[in-house]
Parts: sequence; C-alpha cells; structure tokens
Amino acid sequence: MKDEIESREDRVANLKGMGCSRKRVEDARFTQGKGNYVDDIKLDGMLFGDFVRSPYAHARVVSIDTEEALKVPGVLAVLTAADLEPLGLHWMPTLAGDKQMVLADGKVLYQGQEVAFVVAEDRYAAADGIEAVEVEYEELPVIVDPFESLKSDVVLREDLDPNAPGAHGPRKHPNHIFTWEAGDKDATEQVISEAEVVAEEMVYYHRTHPCPLETCGCVASMDKVNGKLTLWGTFQAPHAIRTVVSLISGIEEHNIRVISPDIGGGFGNKVGAYPGYVCSVVASIVTGKPVKWIEDRMDNLMTTAFARDYWMKGKISATKEGRITGLWCHTTADHGGFDACADPTKFPAGFMNICTGSYDIPTAYLAVDGVYTNKAPGGVAYRCSFRVTEAAYFIERMIEVLAIELNMDAAELRRINFIKADQFPYQSALGWEYDSGDYHTAWDKALAAVGYDDLRAEQARRVEEFKAGKTRRLLGIGLTHFTEIVGAGPVKNCDILGLGMFDSCEIRIHPTGSAIARLGTISQGQGHATTFAQILASEIGLPADSITVEEGDTDTAPYGLGTYGSRSTPVAGAATAMAGRKIRAKAQMIAAYLLEVHDDDVEFDVDRFVVKGAPERFKTMKEIAFAAYNQAIPGIEPGLEAVSYYDPPNMTYPFGAYICVMEIDVDTGEHEIRQFYALDDCGTRINPMIIEGQVHGGLTEALAIAMGQEIAYDDMGNVKTGTLMDFFLPTAWETPNYTTDHTVTPSPHHPIGAKGVGESPNVGGVPCFSNAVHDAFRAFGLRQSHMPHDQWRIWKTANDLGLHS
Ligand code: CDP
Repeated sequence: MKDEIESREDRVANLKGMGCSRKRVEDARFTQGKGNYVDDIKLDGMLFGDFVRSPYAHARVVSIDTEEALKVPGVLAVLTAADLEPLGLHWMPTLAGDKQMVLADGKVLYQGQEVAFVVAEDRYAAADGIEAVEVEYEELPVIVDPFESLKSDVVLREDLDPNAPGAHGPRKHPNHIFTWEAGDKDATEQVISEAEVVAEEMVYYHRTHPCPLETCGCVASMDKVNGKLTLWGTFQAPHAIRTVVSLISGIEEHNIRVISPDIGGGFGNKVGAYPGYVCSVVASIVTGKPVKWIEDRMDNLMTTAFARDYWMKGKISATKEGRITGLWCHTTADHGGFDACADPTKFPAGFMNICTGSYDIPTAYLAVDGVYTNKAPGGVAYRCSFRVTEAAYFIERMIEVLAIELNMDAAELRRINFIKADQFPYQSALGWEYDSGDYHTAWDKALAAVGYDDLRAEQARRVEEFKAGKTRRLLGIGLTHFTEIVGAGPVKNCDILGLGMFDSCEIRIHPTGSAIARLGTISQGQGHATTFAQILASEIGLPADSITVEEGDTDTAPYGLGTYGSRSTPVAGAATAMAGRKIRAKAQMIAAYLLEVHDDDVEFDVDRFVVKGAPERFKTMKEIAFAAYNQAIPGIEPGLEAVSYYDPPNMTYPFGAYICVMEIDVDTGEHEIRQFYALDDCGTRINPMIIEGQVHGGLTEALAIAMGQEIAYDDMGNVKTGTLMDFFLPTAWETPNYTTDHTVTPSPHHPIGAKGVGESPNVGGVPCFSNAVHDAFRAFGLRQSHMPHDQWRIWKTANDLGLHS
C-alpha cells in the first residue's frame, strides 16, 4: 500500500499542514474572474436602490418633494424618514450604544448623509430619480474641529437630552459623547511632576478611510411566501448582522439568512450596519422584489466608516539616563455626527490603553473624550485591533520626542525600556496582561540586519554635507518596536451589542476521508480557506487539500463574531484546533477498537493512529473516517463530526521591529524609501507565504496612511478627498521593496501558539514611516509634525525649519 512505503517526511509533506507555504486555494477563482462578489448577484426582477445625499455638512431639512422623482421612468418608490418612522426604522442603533439616522430626520449632520432612498428598475433610473428629488435645506453653523465642538453653543445632536448620560457615562457638553479612563491619574501626574526629564507633545493621527477595493453593498430579498429574508452583503460579521436585522425588523432570526459571499477587502469598513442595508430590506419587503444597493467610490469615501481622527496629548517622563517612569495621555476623539465606532462595548476607545507599547512603564494614565462634529460617523479598526494603531503611533512618537529631550539614540532608549523576556506574562500599568514576547532578541536582529550603526554614521555625514551645501537630500532612519493586542474576546471582557466575542468551528469528516469545516469568521482576502485547512491537516491528519473551509453563510456556519482586528487566527483558529482535537479524540477510540487494543495504547502520528511500540500496526485517518460511518462500534455513535465554540482566555500580543531608511529631497518634499525591514513575531506561523503577503499589504496601507492618505474637510464640512484623484491609494509605482523577517514566540494560551498578524504591519508601519520623516529633520530641530507626510507637508516642514533660505 502507498501509505506503507511513504516515509514519515513524505506523509508530513502530503498533509500541507502548519508551517507549509501552501499556495492560496482561493486564487484559482480570483485570478480567473470567477469570484462571486455582492454585485455579481443577479436575481429575477431585482431592483436597485440609491441615496439622495446631503450636499451640506449641517443643515435643517425643511422639505423633501418626491413628486417629480416618482414620474421618472423606472422609478418605483422614494423612501424618506417619514416613511420609515411608522416602522420605527428611521433611526437605528450603532455598535457603540448610540443611534444613527437611517434617513435624515429633520436635519443632516455631515456631507453625504442619506436623505432619501430611491428604488428603481435599474441603477440608471435610480440616478435620474435622485436628481429629481427636491430637498430644501436651511444651513446651520458647521463644526469640524472637535476642540471647538466642546466649546460651541451649537448643539449638533438635538435628539439627545444634553443633561442625560450617554452609553458610556456622563457627558460634559451637548457635543460630548463620553470620557473613558484607564490607569492611575494621581500617581502618574505625581511621577511626571517629580521627574528629571519630561517630554510633552500633541500627536495627531489624522482621519483616514479603509477604502477597500470593493465598496459596501447588499442585496435584500424578502420571500413573502416562506416569510424568509435573505441578505447578501459585504459583511465582516454576518451573524452579528443577522441578529441586528432580527432585533430591528422583528423578523425571527431563523427566518433571516445572511450571506457574505466573496469580499473584496474589508479593513474594518464592513463591520458596522449602514442605512443602505436597512433601506434595501424595507424596500424589498414593500415591493416584494429583491433590492440591490451598491455604493460608488465617493459614497464609500465620504460616508461609510472612517478611521482614526485622534488628537493625543502626551507626557512621558524619565530619569536622566533614559529609564521611563511615567506616561500620561489625553485623547480627543472626533467621532463625527454619530458614535458608530466599532469597538467592544466596554472599550469605547477600543484598545487605546495598549499605549504603553513594548515598554516597561511603571505608571500610566489614559483619558479619552469622544466628541461629535459635522463629519461622517465610523471610527473603525482600519487594519488594526480597535485603536491599537493610534496607541502605537502615540507611544512610538513619544519615544522619539523623549529621545530628543534626552539627546539620546532612539534605538538605545527603546532597548533600555523594553519589557524583558523573563517579565512575561507582563501586567501593564493600563490593565493588560501581555502573554509572551522577546523584544530584545527581535530588536537586536533588526538593528544588525540593517547595519544600524553604519546608517547612523552615514546620516551624520549627510547632515554635515547638507550644512556644507554639498547635498539637498537628508537621510531619515525610522524606528519602531510595536506591541499589538489581537484576538478579542475573552467573552467576560469583550462583547459587541451584548454578543460575547467567542468564535467557532464545526467540522464534518466525510466517509472517504475528506472534510468540510465551517467557521464563524469570514475572509476578505486573508486566505482563511488555505490556512484553516492547514491547522486541521496538522490536527486531524487529513491532507489540507481534502478539507474545504466555508465561511459566511449564517444558515450553515456556526455562530461567530466575524473577522476584524486580526481576531480570526487567535479565536476562530483556536476553535478550529479545538474542534480538530475533538475529532482526534473520537478517532483514537475508533482506531483502538479497530486495532483491538485499549484507547491508551494507540498514539497519533502525523496521519494515523499507531499501536505504541508496534509502528507496523496502525490505522490511517482515512481508514478511521470510513470506519466511523461503516462499522457498528460498541459505545460509539456513528459519524465523525465536532464543533467548538472557543472563548479565548486572553488576547494575543504579536510584536515587531521595523526600520525604514528614507531619503528626503528638501526642495521638492519628495521622499524615496531606500530600505524597509520588517520583523514580525506572530507566534507559531501557519503559512509563512500568507504571512508575508499580509505584511506586504499591511505595510503598503501603512505607507498610504503615513505618506498621503487622508479624509480632509474644509471649514464648511466639505470633504476635500472624496475621490481617488485626491485620496491616496498607492500603486506598485509608489510601493517600495520590503524585507520581511521573523522571530517565533508562541502564545502560551493559544492551542497552537499562534497570534494574529494581519494588522501588525499597519500598526507598526505607520509610526515607522512617520518616524523616518521626523528623523531626517531631527538634526534641524523638528520634534513633531502632522501626518500624512505628503510632498507638500514635507516641503513645508523643511521651509518652516528654515532649510530653504
Ligand atoms: O482576522 P484576520 O484573518 O484578518 O487576521 P489574522 O488572524 O492575523 O490572519 C491573517 C492571515 O494570516 C490568515 O490567513 C491566517 O491564518 C494567517 N496567519 C498565519 O498563517 N499564521 C499566524 N500566526 C497568523 C495568521
């Protein structure tokens, strides 16, 4: 038999399990145009819905006249808030405990806000209908600055009682949303007031947008005969959407089927619920026909789920030798017109309290004030785990500023303050228990890989040449050591809308030894069908190529909280391993029966159970699978299936050391990235090739954010970057080469030791690019400048420092 002549090495290779750079199984269909995205769904008699949107950022809606629109050929209906009000659907709950208008109810709070929903036979008729709807607005004063908002007499949210508390406690002003605190305020302020050295800075992380290649959209189809609603959509959390739709529509949850088909990128943009979903469902119920809604690019950039917009005022204190003693941070968080942040309920500022970063900081305090302004709502985890990227940017900038204050090398300052390997599990001053890490090893490896000392010497020479008028190019060395926190749950700490943040996997082994695994997560390009099959291959000894992974259909997948914040591997990946272990436990009993020995006398070996001490006596997992369906085994139910709902005991803490070497042309503001080195430690690595792809993608999004990507507003609340002409999305032209590297520090509590990785390169990349720009100007007195560092801002920085005179 083939099994008998194969070496153990061949059997391991045949599985394509953990650690193998297995090619992505998804790519055969994606590269051949066979993907099935929401806009590919075409149903008989399907209608198209689209929005009349507000041109104003703040205005009263005096009247909406739909008469002419209803005369447009192909237009069937125009929904307004007045139509939705009797159904109680003119407002909807947000993920952050606030509520949000589905359609403008008396006023609009940001440019592009949904005012009316035109339902037509096709997209073109809907567009004509939109043109024909007449809306009379009365302009109101616009507030785009969160600091001004907290002082203003203009009340943005007139629907809220100004004296009533919000979802996260008391409010200080009608435009204030919440205050959230972590750490010890008094102790931190005392440490800082007594410190030998204190650095103080305002660090702004500008408003940006995830901008996935596929915009948001859905198709709602209400089958009135069976009473069943099917909703296809770009959902990063399909089960949560099903529950929300049930709660707000009153349709029983078993009568709702939510399907996330292929998704063209999510990056947090597709976590929350949007007015388009509600209006499509209502329109389908009203017309009895399927209704599709698909955003265009401008709708997506201007109105759905922004990211960041954090003003972080910081103080960091240290001894003269550079030992950090305290960290203080006050953040003013601009949430736009509604608080629609996608964060676990108990964390209104996400995991911003990871802002002590990779450093052993004994005393720290963080306060975050959420504020309403006339900007689009959102506040999503754009390739980061709930505000971790803001936290990493803050601490990595504060370290650089402290290094300036101490007149010290920033690499050395980091080294002397890192949490040491023997301090893990490490309790941070702001409340987290870091599971594992070895920062010094990673740092030394990174510095050696780029030849750090030589780079610093070259930089010093460059400064001298610049001062001597021999060059107009400066050299920046951007350093970052970040620590992420990914894998929300645990359920006791983390829920969204009361739904605990566990995740799930259900496995069915077929009689012929192949399998299907269904998970509560949903890939948006990360390659789950490839990697989760690899986890199972190693756990149950069937080849990954024989295992189908299916996600995204709530009628078949077990309940899960979805994919965002790199939680899939830490949570659903763990559920997959645990479900695999249940399969293996049953398989062991079957094998023992077939081999006529006691259960304890067989042991698992790659793809089989072997009698201990008699390796020639074994049953392969394929044989065991067949036996599970074909033999009556006393005391054992037929079949081979398992399900696991996994509530993680802790989050995982991936980390990384990044170094960027950047040339800057002082006269044009142009930059050139000469070298980018990224060392990531995500614990046990499932698929090194996929990890490398994740790192490349995340770094490119980081490059975008740091060097040009921004949702900018003028004083009237007009979005100045609402198209891809103005909103920077890097192409291969702007993207530098990356050198990737790794260390492996497994998570001690994850069944296979894996931590998440998808977000890490964004979290670490943004401060690294930004630090490179700052570092280039350090010798000329720059402490802090605002991102994004586009050509104009870099030129202006040089100009402000007097380098053009
Ligand atoms: O939640 P999301 O899928 O966005 O992020 P992730 O859990 O960090 O995983 C991104 C991709 O990298 C998935 O295909 C993972 O299975 C893979 N990965 C890996 O191969 N090894 C790890 N230690 C972590 C993730």
